[in-house]
Amino acid sequence: MSVKIQEMRIDIITVLPEMLEGFVNQSILARAQKKGLVEIYLHNLRDYTKDKHRRVDDYPFGGFAGMVMQCQPIDDCISRLKAERHYDHVIFTTPDGEQFNQSMANELSLAENIIILCGHYKGVDYRIREHLITKEISIGDYVLTGGELAAAAITDAVVRIVPGVIGDEQSALSDSFQDNLLAAPVYTRPADYKGWCVPEVLLSGHEAKIKEWELSQSYERTRRLRPDLLNKNTPSHDKD
Ligand code: 6GU
Repeated sequence: MSVKIQEMRIDIITVLPEMLEGFVNQSILARAQKKGLVEIYLHNLRDYTKDKHRRVDDYPFGGFAGMVMQCQPIDDCISRLKAERHYDHVIFTTPDGEQFNQSMANELSLAENIIILCGHYKGVDYRIREHLITKEISIGDYVLTGGELAAAAITDAVVRIVPGVIGDEQSALSDSFQDNLLAAPVYTRPADYKGWCVPEVLLSGHEAKIKEWELSQSYERTRRLRPDLLNKNTPSHDKD
């Protein structure tokens, strides 16, 4: 049976395209694009400003500190993209967004087209968030100088689970977090390195025993390192 492969498109809007250029053209992301599974486009927000000094930010009303990204360049860039195709999500990366996790990555990986607007400076004019953004995402409770690293993290987590991107399909599904369990330890040759030995069971060739070992390791490591994840298996627990 053949599986229909649908190409995914990610448009990233940023004032620092150079920062993401290398990242999106390396390794797995490069391969995914070469295989025609994803297209990633970087848009320099400055190309859309009407300001003669190419500025995309201005002082905030109210006399607050910092600079704010203006509506016009962002609106023009997003409008131009939306005129060409439908977007499932228009994401804004911001420390006050919803915290990114594996289930969000899974959901986003099903989309056909997404826009990621990288936040910068003090933030963007709130009207952009009210009128154009459909999803606000943070990658954790700490502050970065800009949303580019967050956009990179989101892109990486999403693209790697698009079917066909990772050669061994099984490998993306057995990741830590895919089932709220941390992954079991892995080992490669040699079986004995300076007397540091690989667990005997892995060399036994006994498939059922190996599976059982893997699962018990996952549970043991999760209980010890991330006990909060075990509670997530109870759906009602998510709300409190
Ligand atoms: Cl999305 N942006 C910034 N500037 N800082 C962050 C973040 C995003 N997520 C965590 N910290």
